[in-house]
Amino acid sequence: MIKHFVGITDETPETFIKLIKRSEFWKKSVKKGNVQQILGPTKNRTSSKVIAMIFQKPSTRTRVSCEMALHHLGGRGLYLSPNEIGLGKREATKDVAAVLGRLVDGILARVFSHSDVLELSKHAGVPVVNGLSDAEHPCQILGDFLTMLEHGWRPGKGKLAFIGDGNNVCNSLIAGAALTGTEFVWVGPKGYEPDKKFVEFAYQNGGKIILSNKISELKGSDFIYNDVWTSMGFEDEANKRRKKFKPYQMNSKVMELVPSAKILHCLPAHRGEEITDEVIDGKNSIVLDQAENRVYSKMAVFERLFCNHK
Ligand code: CP
Ligand code: NVA
Repeated sequence: MIKHFVGITDETPETFIKLIKRSEFWKKSVKKGNVQQILGPTKNRTSSKVIAMIFQKPSTRTRVSCEMALHHLGGRGLYLSPNEIGLGKREATKDVAAVLGRLVDGILARVFSHSDVLELSKHAGVPVVNGLSDAEHPCQILGDFLTMLEHGWRPGKGKLAFIGDGNNVCNSLIAGAALTGTEFVWVGPKGYEPDKKFVEFAYQNGGKIILSNKISELKGSDFIYNDVWTSMGFEDEANKRRKKFKPYQMNSKVMELVPSAKILHCLPAHRGEEITDEVIDGKNSIVLDQAENRVYSKMAVFERLFCNHK
């Protein structure tokens, strides 16, 4: 059966923790300069594995980390910009999937609608990776758990909070927290709660989860995660959201409640909006570790999809 990586809710505690550990392994291998090029030519294959990277939205980290992961592993990426494929417009998503499945070895897709990632995975006949949809950002969250591991987090321990919009990143984080036995708190304005499906997934997996509108619930958190108030695709709501989310800015006053908490942000950040300069540039910020770790988590994903790892 063809394997995909489209959402954290497809994982079990064992498979997810294994991916985190493999991400750590790949980071060490890259640092030592000793990486086995598992996607490169082999005795039985003369060419490298090639991944088509469909981007319906802009990207820095996802695109570059994907290309770097492939570079380290001896594979290749083909960037397809928002102007090219026209997913579901120029051509039916199903047809794009089937055609790319004949041309390349795998697909990474950043899309507006999660249903497009599912449609690609249904019809491509090759592995599909979700590079961010409106529902999930699984590659991001995998790298973030590696980052937290490096900063003292361990499975079954710790309290992780998310302040702001209950968006795609938050959804994946809830699922990851539940699978790893990490206490989870969401704090944000009414009407912007995380998707019920992910909250339900957390409960079904024994997750300890609190949803609150009170900043005081952040107290005792080991990690606080922050993301933009207006995700890509919701730009029409930006003004309304700025007003709603203002009380939930990650600033030095909030830091007084959680002086030792590490601060995460998937980036790009809107400085001065959801997070202030002194917090994102402060001593507790681990956002650059997160960005770097995107490479190693993708290596773990490609290893699983192409090298028979569970
Ligand atoms: N965090 C993240 O996915 O960044 P990009 O949008 O730059 O890929
Ligand atoms: N929630 C953000 C994440 C960007 C990496 C968005 O979807 O735009």
